[in-house]
Amino acid sequence: MTSVEGALKVRVAAKHDEAVDICSFELVRADGGPLPAFSAGSHIDVAVPGGLTRQYSLCNAPDESHRYQIAVLRDPKSRGGSAGMHDRVRIGDELTISYPKNHFALAHDARHHLLLAGGIGVTPILCMAERLAAIGASFDMHYCTRSRARTAFVDRIALARYAPRVQCHFDDGAHSQKLHLAALLARPEPGTHLYVCGPKGFMDAVLNTAREASWADAQLHYEFFAAEARETAGDERFEVEIASSGQVVVVGKGKSVVAALAAAGIRIETSCEQGVCGTCLTRVLTGEPEHFDAYLTPDERAANDQFLPCCSRSKSARLVLDL
Ligand code: FES
Repeated sequence: MTSVEGALKVRVAAKHDEAVDICSFELVRADGGPLPAFSAGSHIDVAVPGGLTRQYSLCNAPDESHRYQIAVLRDPKSRGGSAGMHDRVRIGDELTISYPKNHFALAHDARHHLLLAGGIGVTPILCMAERLAAIGASFDMHYCTRSRARTAFVDRIALARYAPRVQCHFDDGAHSQKLHLAALLARPEPGTHLYVCGPKGFMDAVLNTAREASWADAQLHYEFFAAEARETAGDERFEVEIASSGQVVVVGKGKSVVAALAAAGIRIETSCEQGVCGTCLTRVLTGEPEHFDAYLTPDERAANDQFLPCCSRSKSARLVLDL
């Protein structure tokens, strides 16, 4: 069910340790040609050895066509994605990846961009900083990590001409260098757009602080890496109806809509299977979904006319899907 759409064959041209538990990979086209263009904030799906597909943001400058660069944090709770990249992918290996996709684009009409990165969330943010610096746009970047040893790309940032626009904040550092979100976000200026990527706790803190300070949703841009594990013991069985055929499929406890439909011969394209990437987005014609994704905005969730069937369920006894 998991797949890489529009597959490209690439070769691993370089692999570097960037920080404790963080490796970067430089990917070049296996046939030696230029890679498809991408914009800041884009990610690729990577078919990881072992059969999983994972999304990684591109972190090199978007005007480069000779390589894609990604960086991967080793997750101690890895289901095989990050461990597969760290332990099984070597220089010279061939990988299958998707064309770049962008669900986290820069707002090019913004007057100022405020970039906030937490840990490995620096990858798309760094790409944005490179792009904004290249086009002479106004921006500031804050980069929060647990410690300097866990901070990827510090040397690259220090050598960049936009280095004065970047402040690093280390959890184990002095109080004076810590990021004070409430002060930073206290006054949303019209024309300023905020971008945040990082672990869920960091993103929740940034987005909640921004919303409390009355930032408009249109000014907030974010990308989650993975949805939080949730308790499934209370899940109830429900039905989904396929609008085009009238077929009804039962989704039992502990089974996803995608899996229940697959068992009935109805395939929905998926990628992350964690409610993060948006690949499986499906329109809902009737019924009330129970959203468990990290992809839809609060307004999109409230509209209840679409959901992510790889992870979301139903509050009503039946959902009618536009399939
Ligand atoms: S497959 Fe990624 S959100 Fe469903």
